[in-house]
Amino acid sequence: MLLVMGTRPEVIKTAPVISALKKTPGLHPILIGTGQHRSLLDQMLHSFSLSLDENMRLMRPGQSPTDILSKGITRLTACFQHRRPALVLVQGDTTSALAGALAAFHLKIPVGHIEAGLRSGDLSQPFPEEMNRSVIDDIARLHFAPTQNNARTLIREGAAKSSVFITGNTVVDSVKTLLKKKLAIRNPKARQFSTGAGRKILLTAHRRESFGVPLQNIFGAISDLVKTHEDLRILYPIHPNPEVHRAAKRRLTHPRITLCDPLDYFDFLKTAQAADLIMSDSGGVQEEAPTLKTPIVVLRNITERGELIARNGWGKLSGTNRTKIVRDASSFLKRRKKTNRAPNPFGDGRSGPRIAAIIKRWLS
Ligand code: UD1
Ligand code: UDP
Repeated sequence: MLLVMGTRPEVIKTAPVISALKKTPGLHPILIGTGQHRSLLDQMLHSFSLSLDENMRLMRPGQSPTDILSKGITRLTACFQHRRPALVLVQGDTTSALAGALAAFHLKIPVGHIEAGLRSGDLSQPFPEEMNRSVIDDIARLHFAPTQNNARTLIREGAAKSSVFITGNTVVDSVKTLLKKKLAIRNPKARQFSTGAGRKILLTAHRRESFGVPLQNIFGAISDLVKTHEDLRILYPIHPNPEVHRAAKRRLTHPRITLCDPLDYFDFLKTAQAADLIMSDSGGVQEEAPTLKTPIVVLRNITERGELIARNGWGKLSGTNRTKIVRDASSFLKRRKKTNRAPNPFGDGRSGPRIAAIIKRWLS
């Protein structure tokens, strides 16, 4: 069987499946990278000690999803024709995942979708991920749904009940595995942030639908928060997308806001654990926050991870309105930290072995 991955979150979330597949007798996972990301992909492969069987190195500075999709389908089609896998596994909602599913579909190779059934219900946010994941789910013969809610969505949309398995989200496995490592934080800025006094916010923001005014509002709110909370420090590992980079450098200039390069996975998790609050528009970070027991302000108008908001206390959906972001973040900063004991809605850390066992049964 063959796994396609192109970006940072796909490596993080397929790593537990790869590890379980490698331990399953008779299964031989082949790892194919589209190279939609370059530095971020390499950094994450290193975090999980993984190496690719083939890397297409598709990334170009300032690329569009169309660039990646068209090149991805062409290159993956040739790869699948050559390798003839019994099953292609894709994860999540990226352009690489869509390219993998479409290429496999046209060659009549069955597709398994890790993290199936997430929906915001709005094709424009997250853009273009909402379309990607719903097309992948239409194509997939195996749906690995993280939660009961995701499974219900798939069945409501017409997926065969026998194709849907509730597995938990594999990101919980990854968090638990990495945090077992007895390492020190390597990035000096992240180390200083995590061990220093005062209240701390870890920020990530990179969504395409936020470019322009929404991102300016988010950065405006961050500046307001740091000015109104004298002991507050903020760390922002900036996504290398040039659009995000430019905006962050121009607008986040306060001395208690530290900008840094993307962190390796261990450093990021330790920093997120040390923070009083996370503010993020990322998908994976929304699932990691309750796993790490750190509250999160979600910088999106709508989320496909409704479980986070429904289980009151783990997170607030604050959108991109400057005033609302400041109000929601301030209310979290006032509370005594890490008092929430509600169960993690996203999984128990055993999703990888569950998925490998289902695949083994299905193939035989
Ligand atoms: C993509 C995913 C998004 C995911 C994000 C993870 C799609 C449609 N979106 O976002 O779901 O949250 O990746 O980070 O697939 N760049 C580098 N080095 C890297 C990676 C990116 O320089 O290692 C820069 C390049 O200029 C690149 C740009 O960032 O062109 C955008 O990368 P891209 O993968 O297209 O990002 P998104 O589509 O925004
Ligand atoms: N992450 C990381 N280092 C960073 C920022 C994020 O390791 O500097 C991890 C984070 O823990 C999460 C994943 O990257 O698991 C999220 O990736 P991203 O936000 O790029 O994509 P998304 O989850 O939004 O698709």
